[in-house]
Amino acid sequence: MQLNVVILAAGRGKRMRSARPKVLHELAGQPLLAHVIDSARALKASRICVVYGHGGEAVPKAIAAVDIRWVKQEPQLGTGHALQQALPHVSKAPRTLVLYGDVPLVRTAALRALLKDRSPRVGILTAELADPGGYGRVVRDLRGQVTGIVEHKDANAAQHGIREINTGIMVLPTARLARWLGKLKNDNAQREFYLPDIVKLAIADRIPVEAVPAGAAWETTGVNSKAQLAQLERLYQERIAATLLDAGVSLADPARLDVRGSLECGKDVFIDVGCIFEGRTRLGDGVRVGPYCVLRDVAVAAGTRIEAYSHIVEAAIGANCRVGPYARIRPGTRLATGVHVGNFVEVKNSVIGGRSKANHLAYVGDARVGARVNIGAGTITCNYDGVNKHRTVIEDDAFIGSNTELVAPVAVRRGATIGAGSTITRDAPARQLTLARARQVSVPGWKRPRKRVRDDE
Ligand code: UD1
Ligand code: CA
Repeated sequence: MQLNVVILAAGRGKRMRSARPKVLHELAGQPLLAHVIDSARALKASRICVVYGHGGEAVPKAIAAVDIRWVKQEPQLGTGHALQQALPHVSKAPRTLVLYGDVPLVRTAALRALLKDRSPRVGILTAELADPGGYGRVVRDLRGQVTGIVEHKDANAAQHGIREINTGIMVLPTARLARWLGKLKNDNAQREFYLPDIVKLAIADRIPVEAVPAGAAWETTGVNSKAQLAQLERLYQERIAATLLDAGVSLADPARLDVRGSLECGKDVFIDVGCIFEGRTRLGDGVRVGPYCVLRDVAVAAGTRIEAYSHIVEAAIGANCRVGPYARIRPGTRLATGVHVGNFVEVKNSVIGGRSKANHLAYVGDARVGARVNIGAGTITCNYDGVNKHRTVIEDDAFIGSNTELVAPVAVRRGATIGAGSTITRDAPARQLTLARARQVSVPGWKRPRKRVRDDE
């Protein structure tokens, strides 16, 4: 679309009481600004500019996008001043859409509604709020025509009663901007150049001003404080939960689910309370996730059960596996079909073959484990010599007795059995029993030490 989008993101966000620039605070695991950029991209605009300032280069660095022109505003003298800084960088597109970096959830549908009328006009996205405190109010004359926006801090008692607010999102005729922005004054309560003052200048120039109502009040909520951020997070999560329920996912409690990224689910998936999904996660048909699990960038194939309190990151879990409770699966792990990884088992950067089991208290790191292997309780791959990491190979049908240390690089061959308590430093041959531990001795006539009794006691 022939359109400039300018996102204002230079403000300090005093009310957040944080050292971090406001637009980098996260909603659903993503900076506020990233949400706004996503909405801008959905419009396929000819150019997207982001005005940054407070927090300096931290803002462009955190976003790292190639399709964006970054414009620095310094000092930050208000939203009107911010847009003025962007003017030399916008394209010749006839219209410029202004988005606010701290209004993260506006939906593309509302933006499209605002952009529908292509005539040269000022369009303001507005909302009716039960509690309009803090927002700029839309002032209308007796005929209902918009005459201006008055900021909360500049409004009189009657204006404070207005419930129609400016969301900050506006579409403006690009060609007029230089003149209007040059005319803004900062004779107001905050000593700032307010962008919404442009409305009065448009009216003076006989350019029509139109207020377009947003679809839902929540999508226009601005984030100015931690309380507002927390509220918006809940709203966002409610919507995700509703979408999942609609798609047929069973949620033990839609209010106790957090998705910070994308969660794709097959048929008949069940998710218990308190789970957190980050990055891109996919759950196949019939997958059940127990309470209080954390999954980030994970693919889980059909029929698998993830039991309570499991933590899984950057891993692929095969079909019909059983993971947890209390399992930790770290990056680079692939479990084939029917694998069991039980309580207090940590697996890192390892491939585990079909129907293998590590049911209790083990560490499997940098290992290639074959099929039908049994890894006894307390088994540890000693993969790190203090400097380098080494690999452990455990071939099909091996049986690793409890409390075994496998000092890598080392291999346990096909069908081998390792006696419990062994410290294995050399390869164990196929189908034999390998033991590597001190021989058991019993000392006849041995006496337990006694406490010495001193004369003076
Ligand atoms: C602004 C609007 C208000 C509207 C509300 C909607 C103005 C003067 N007021 O108020 O009418 O109801 O948003 O949420 O515009 N920014 C800059 N440079 C600056 C100042 C701000 O880039 O010099 C950016 C901020 O980073 C923020 C956005 O502009 O993303 C809005 O600034 P903020 O100070 O939060 O304005 P509000 O008081 O919320
Ligand atoms: Ca704001």
